[in-house]
Amino acid sequence: MINQRQQHPSSNEDVLKILLQAQDEEGHRLSSEEVKDNVLGMLVAGHETLTSALTSLCLLLAQHPEVLQAARAEQEQLGLTQPLTQESLKQMTYLEQVLKEVLRMAPPVVRSGSRKVLESCEFGGYLIPQGWDAFYQIQETHEDQNVYAQAQRFDPERFAPERAKNKQKVFSYIPFGGGIRECLGKEFARLEMKVFAALLIREYQWELLPGQNLERVVLPFSRPHDGLKVKFWRRESGSIIFRF
Ligand code: HEM
Repeated sequence: MINQRQQHPSSNEDVLKILLQAQDEEGHRLSSEEVKDNVLGMLVAGHETLTSALTSLCLLLAQHPEVLQAARAEQEQLGLTQPLTQESLKQMTYLEQVLKEVLRMAPPVVRSGSRKVLESCEFGGYLIPQGWDAFYQIQETHEDQNVYAQAQRFDPERFAPERAKNKQKVFSYIPFGGGIRECLGKEFARLEMKVFAALLIREYQWELLPGQNLERVVLPFSRPHDGLKVKFWRRESGSIIFRF
């Protein structure tokens, strides 16, 4: 596709077009190899992560109807037929806690965060030599009992302001990594999740189909072993079956 598009530029306004047209101050463009790397980066970093998060959202809400009910009550309070606006999204504070808890319990990226050690240093009594690769563990961090009581419990309200106060340690919540190489798409991903979740909760009901292996596989991204088979139906009409 890259070769084709280079020879026959398309009128489609898409990411590939932007990458093919991008140039630096001296007019240099990206090589085909660099364009390919960037497209793959977008697909892997931007698409696979988000779909993993949305799959976990559907799974956890199906398994915790009381949370779904509370999230729906919030939507009802805001007005189910009201359009989503930046303002109304900000008011969805309970939904925000639900999404935070989904990313805590089932972070899409489980164990790939790595950093190069620039200078030898000591941490917890261990010498970490310069030049080594140090890996940070997202899942294990999110299960730290010093920060998250009953870490195995799906409990969105643990992020309610009155409970979360004083409990957060720096870097104790890291679904998007941390520091200067933190996820570049973090705010966009949070927005996508919120819009998707709000519309789903407002308009659909769903249930998990029987006979599927829900055991969590974490590589390359977190997902249930068989994918997730779900039956959705519009809250007032017919049903459709999706497989994530
Ligand atoms: C729920 C969704 C997402 C999760 C959980 C997630 C998570 C992560 C994590 C853990 C990293 C590694 C950060 C580090 O090394 O400390 C990362 C990097 C990155 N993410 Fe995301 N991500 C998500 C969505 C997105 C989206 C939607 C985009 C783009 C549209 C995106 C673009 C990137 C890029 C470009 C990097 C590399 C940043 C760098 O190395 O400087 N991500 N993401």
